[in-house]
Amino acid sequence: MTTDQQPIIFNPLDPAFRENPYPVYSRLVREDPVHITPFGVKAFSRLTDATAILRDHKRFSSDDRNAGLIGVQQERSSGADSIVNDEDRPFLFMDPPDHKRLRRLVNLAFTPRALESMRPRVQQLVDELLDAVEGKDEMDAIADLAYPLPVSVICEMLGVPRQDEPQFRIWSRILASSLDPDITVPPELQKEREQAVLDSREYFRELIARRGDDRPPDILSALLAAEEEGDKLSERELLSTCTMILIAGHETTVNLIGNGILQLLRHPDQLAKFQERPEVLAPHVVEEVLRFDPPVQFDGRICIEKTEVGGVTIEAGEFVMILIGAANRDPEHFEDPDTFDITRGERDSAADRHLAFGFGIHFCLGAPLARIEGEIALRSFVQRFPNARLLDERPQYRAQITLRGLENLRVGLK
Ligand code: HEM
Repeated sequence: MTTDQQPIIFNPLDPAFRENPYPVYSRLVREDPVHITPFGVKAFSRLTDATAILRDHKRFSSDDRNAGLIGVQQERSSGADSIVNDEDRPFLFMDPPDHKRLRRLVNLAFTPRALESMRPRVQQLVDELLDAVEGKDEMDAIADLAYPLPVSVICEMLGVPRQDEPQFRIWSRILASSLDPDITVPPELQKEREQAVLDSREYFRELIARRGDDRPPDILSALLAAEEEGDKLSERELLSTCTMILIAGHETTVNLIGNGILQLLRHPDQLAKFQERPEVLAPHVVEEVLRFDPPVQFDGRICIEKTEVGGVTIEAGEFVMILIGAANRDPEHFEDPDTFDITRGERDSAADRHLAFGFGIHFCLGAPLARIEGEIALRSFVQRFPNARLLDERPQYRAQITLRGLENLRVGLK
């Protein structure tokens, strides 16, 4: 659909769109909320439609093998098929009852209490990273803070020794492409990714095999112990869960911290407010960054039973796209949606009803941990460097589709 203005061009591969997708989203949500992409895929941008799809897991599947089963050939939603065979499929790409069974077992390890207990350690890691740049004229907020923090946290959760972290950073970077549609990933990278899946799995297998009983408890021990009504994770399920945690938990959190620092430095009035009340505002800052500039831009599902959403019919077998970045600025739900306002959550308790962590049965399992890391990293950064300023007004975005994050972010510190 178009108006009397220019047609809306929604092209996630375009570098200009990557730099600032929000003017396009703003038009989509207002003028063309069920947009048909050039591939014929329906892209939903209204919050109500997006939540209707994500809530309805009976009609909208996360398992992209369903597109094949129904016999409709679509562009695949993700690289899931190419990196896993059926037994190694992580539950992010499963439907109930398998999803329910695995998520319940993994939940036994990911309790809010277990994640909350990591807060002091996250603070320590952030302090170490900021100590390393203290006294310098500038830092790269991605390489010096946003990137190393989440990988260290995940490695500690899984009991990976510190000396192996550099290997994890490499795997994580390669594996992040599994969240993008395969057609946008060059064949060499797809091969590298398959290898990284195999290598990281083999690494976890050995790590588990050589674990002694004397280790302090961590998430991996909890996953190994997780048992309910006689049901346990098999070795393959455990390994695919570890790889999924690395993929789902690392590059996403990098971008929460990176996008957060960029938005704070671009909005000096908001930065000043944050500096006045850092403890109180930190959780609100994180929610506003997640709403305003979400690290995961797209979600996808396969319709498995003909239905209607947003006044449009969706056939069984159709892949549908959810534009999280657009839904998070839906004017029906967020007042003045294009304004970055870190006190929004103080006035409006519904301000955290954004879709940055998804919605429904696949709602992000690591959300409490991502929030802890975001709060501590952003608060500590603004407290430590009150004169921080952007050295590059237009930092480069990484060439990814699903994830939105910066290649680097040069920040002056004095
Ligand atoms: C800011 C950081 C993060 C963002 C924006 C994010 C976003 C998301 C989103 C949108 C989903 C839903 C996907 C869907 O509907 O298909 C999801 C699921 C998931 N996330 Fe996160 N995530 C973040 C951090 C983490 C962390 C730190 C972990 C683990 C340590 C994690 C683990 C997972 C897992 C295991 C799932 C799959 C849940 C399921 O299928 O039931 N995430 N995440």
